[in-house]
Amino acid sequence: MKILGTGSAHPSKTVTNDMLEHFLDTSDEWIRTRTGIRQRQLITDEKLEDIAVSAAQKALDRAGISPKDLDFIICSNVVNEYITPALSCIIQGKLGAECPCIDLNGACAGFIYSLDIAESYLSSKSDINNILIVCAEEPTRMVDWADRGTCVLFGDGAGAVVVGKGDNVKSIRLSTTSKQESLYQQRKLQDTPFITKDEAHGPLVMNGQEVFKLAVSSSLRDIKGVISDSHLTENDVDHFLLHQANIRIIDTIRQSLNQDKDKFPNNIDKYGNTSSASIPILLDELNSRNELRRGDKIVLSAFGAGFTTGACLLYW
Ligand code: UT7
Repeated sequence: MKILGTGSAHPSKTVTNDMLEHFLDTSDEWIRTRTGIRQRQLITDEKLEDIAVSAAQKALDRAGISPKDLDFIICSNVVNEYITPALSCIIQGKLGAECPCIDLNGACAGFIYSLDIAESYLSSKSDINNILIVCAEEPTRMVDWADRGTCVLFGDGAGAVVVGKGDNVKSIRLSTTSKQESLYQQRKLQDTPFITKDEAHGPLVMNGQEVFKLAVSSSLRDIKGVISDSHLTENDVDHFLLHQANIRIIDTIRQSLNQDKDKFPNNIDKYGNTSSASIPILLDELNSRNELRRGDKIVLSAFGAGFTTGACLLYW
């Protein structure tokens, strides 16, 4: 598999840390120093599907591929306004594509899971040549906006790639360890005349410190795994693109790998944590700024609710 094009899109509303101080017991100083976030883009009157279509269309344009040439669409998404149909089906219609589609909920690691599925399709099915992966997320609709421990962390947005047959992806590792209690959100389903059990519902619940520790240890394991699969060392890697959840998580991983800051690009200051969209958004920014050279070795690594994790080593 190789990446043929990248794209990203964001809602138009910028919410700075200062703006949060008006209704939360928080401060720009706390948020910046504990997370690296300065602002985030939030959905107001936009629909997530339109932001996703915009990111996808940019990736298609960059790849020089028409929607009709797509053979499959994978949409990585945790929540959106529809339970059914899948967001990918809505995106397919708006793009004017005609291929089969599926949604995948791998939480913040969803982009790496999507890459793995795309790689399997491309290598096993001769009639599949072009796959769109679009990660579209609105985590700001999951949190309690009175809970300063979670709502300050997130932003909405979409990142997309078009992938085709090639030999650029060298290794992908995935892991899932069931750990519901450290990061979850429950929603209530429709009542029926027969339901007797109590069903909980509410905003996102997170044990931040536990997630922090799990994030560091699992990312280090996955990153080292894909590097060793490829018979390389950390020093051979040109760019580490990590899930943008907290700059302190990224820095802890970087220091443990003993690597320079410039190998760990980040944009968390602008967007906060956009869940599975964070890595494809960052990839698109680097690509748009021509900061990726042919042959560059790139490691992608993400973690999220589940607990799901994954890393990928690819050559640009
Ligand atoms: O993609 C999924 C992922 N989620 C994550 O990656 C989250 C991983 N975890 C983290 O990023 C960090 O744990 C947080 C940023 C969530 C929290 O940072 P922390 O350094 O672990 O802070 P803490 O939870 O230990 O809280 C320290 C203090 C507490 O006050 P007390 O009890 O010491 O008086 C919190 O109530 O900071 C307080 N606090 C805040 N203060 C101002 C928590 N949130 C805020 C806030 N503003 N927004």
